[in-house]
Amino acid sequence: MNITREKVVTTLIKDKRVLKLDTASAFASTNIALCKYWGKRDVELNLPMTSSLSVSLGELGASTKISLSDSEEVWLNGEAVATNTLFYQRLIEFFDLFRPTADTKFKIETDTNIPIAAGLASSACGFAATVKALDKLFAWEQSDTHLSILARLGSGSACRSIYDGFVLWNAGIAKDGMDSYAEDLEYIWPELRVGILLVDSKQKSISSRDAMQATVETCPYYKLWPETVNKAIKVTDEALEQRDFWALGTTAEANSLAMHALMLATTPPIIYSQGGTLELMQKVWRLRAEGLPVFFTQDAGPNLKLLFQEKDEAKLKEQFAEMRVVAPFAKVKESTNV
Ligand code: PMV
Repeated sequence: MNITREKVVTTLIKDKRVLKLDTASAFASTNIALCKYWGKRDVELNLPMTSSLSVSLGELGASTKISLSDSEEVWLNGEAVATNTLFYQRLIEFFDLFRPTADTKFKIETDTNIPIAAGLASSACGFAATVKALDKLFAWEQSDTHLSILARLGSGSACRSIYDGFVLWNAGIAKDGMDSYAEDLEYIWPELRVGILLVDSKQKSISSRDAMQATVETCPYYKLWPETVNKAIKVTDEALEQRDFWALGTTAEANSLAMHALMLATTPPIIYSQGGTLELMQKVWRLRAEGLPVFFTQDAGPNLKLLFQEKDEAKLKEQFAEMRVVAPFAKVKESTNV
């Protein structure tokens, strides 16, 4: 029999469904996978087929405030979210896992400083911030490992947003997913920069959830993916250990392209890239051929994230005037009010 999310929550938080505060807030950074998560072995619990490795983006992320309320309300960046949207439904279903009584209602306010649903992992930081805020609201005092498992129940990649810096999400093998959580890799790389290049910040046409499922079910090359990611994680880990930027960048870019290649060979095909995405890729390759160490990675959207080092920041800003630059290892701002 399949294990449900309710069962996992009950195992972790036992009888602690008693509210200790009427309001609580928390911040979580968004994260960008350098070695991607693409495909689930359990759809209900968001258990991945493979491990994945990411870097959290410091000040870029979501602040979530949860308050007890007379009516159920979801707010996103200052606007009420309609009850018939997928966003509202996914969030409310997640809150159903934690309600002390069926008539406990919450007002959930999330503020992000990244475009929503544009392949910039906004659900990752949203669910991670939500779980951190719930931990305060109920005074659970759960470990980061348990918070990571709880965040995964909302969105897979959210389990990595519990931590700053480089993060490894171990796929695990247990049916209940108790061994599928993220851990802090503790490598520090202050010179690393991530540049965000927006091609289009509109809602994507197919969610990562549906797209990865279609890939698993119909892509004839999906069977090559686990070995591809495992190798990429090993090389990336060595690159982090040795501060080998070239190895880090080449591996991340190749892994991202391999993930999108799988989608191209899915039925029906999934293409997140737009014309502007390909133009930016070609520009990155041209700059690299001219000697500039810069690489890209792309998630479930048309936007690109560039990977480069502090020493090349000025040159890259000249090339990409609109680019937002993030220093993942600059001090993370803990936000307590939304
Ligand atoms: O956690 P989800 O369902 O938003 O999926 C994330 C998928 C990618 O962003 C494309 C890859 C990753 O590892 O973050």
